[in-house]
Amino acid sequence: MPEQLGGCMVDLKEWRRQRFGTGDDDVALISLGEVASDAKLRHSYVGMLHDFYTKDVKKAADGTVTRGGDMAERFQGQDAWTPTRASDDFEGYVAAQDALAEPQPGRLRTHTSVMVNQSQKQVVGEAWIRTPDTPMPITQWGGHTHSLVRPSARGLGHGKAMLGLSMAKAHELGIDNVHVTVSNDNPASYRRFAAMVIDGRAKEVPGDPQSGRRHYTIPTAPYAAAMKPAAPKATPNPQR
Ligand SMILES: CC(C)(COP(=O)(O)OP(=O)(O)OC[C@H]1O[C@@H](n2cnc3c(N)ncnc32)[C@H](O)[C@@H]1OP(=O)(O)O)[C@@H](O)C(=O)NCCC(=O)NCCS
Repeated sequence: MPEQLGGCMVDLKEWRRQRFGTGDDDVALISLGEVASDAKLRHSYVGMLHDFYTKDVKKAADGTVTRGGDMAERFQGQDAWTPTRASDDFEGYVAAQDALAEPQPGRLRTHTSVMVNQSQKQVVGEAWIRTPDTPMPITQWGGHTHSLVRPSARGLGHGKAMLGLSMAKAHELGIDNVHVTVSNDNPASYRRFAAMVIDGRAKEVPGDPQSGRRHYTIPTAPYAAAMKPAAPKATPNPQR
């Protein structure tokens, strides 16, 4: 369905595909340091922060506005890394994110990797791996892995591709069985895990049906050798 973009009628999904590719392309997880050392990727990364800041916006009933979706914590508080600040001091931004991977009392370590489409030199999202490897209470934090695809590049298969790459990264960080919980109102996320259950790569862990969340566990060993992500479906989902 064509939509209005910058004064022109365009097929938005096609526009996104041309700009960001799909999860079937030449995608990889790289470090923030590698992003910092490449001017084009750095520019695209800052574009992703703007994307989250301007498009992942929630308005609460009391009128409070939260910007950034799952990245909101970065954009708030005294030491907020707004997209503009990150652009002005990218090295400082990288150091602040890398510090989250260091051991800290009372906090899980968060290891950030950036998903890039290598042939297009575009940043499409970010994967967070949380350690140490403890199944509980890790699920209270959402789990060992967390995927974020930039709002403009969603629905193109990157989220599915990111899962395979995240499992390989988790394995590298010493996690043998990834535990994740997903909210029942987040089909774009849980459909990826449900597909893994169907083809035997994940199990759904029975839990409290009242919790509103689904809990999955995925052994990471099969991903150790193959860093290649699973191919997304060729045809778009008609229910979307
Ligand atoms: C969840 C997220 C990572 C998925 O990434 P994505 O690139 O949009 O997902 P994909 O294109 O790979 O699609 C994954 C599956 O969800 C389906 N899907 C995608 N968007 C959907 C939507 N809005 N509604 C319902 N299903 C959707 C796809 O059809 C696909 O399922 P299928 O293979 O059965 O057809 C992305 O939406 C995101 O960053 N969300 C915000 C952060 C978040 O919620 N992270 C997960 C926390 S557990």
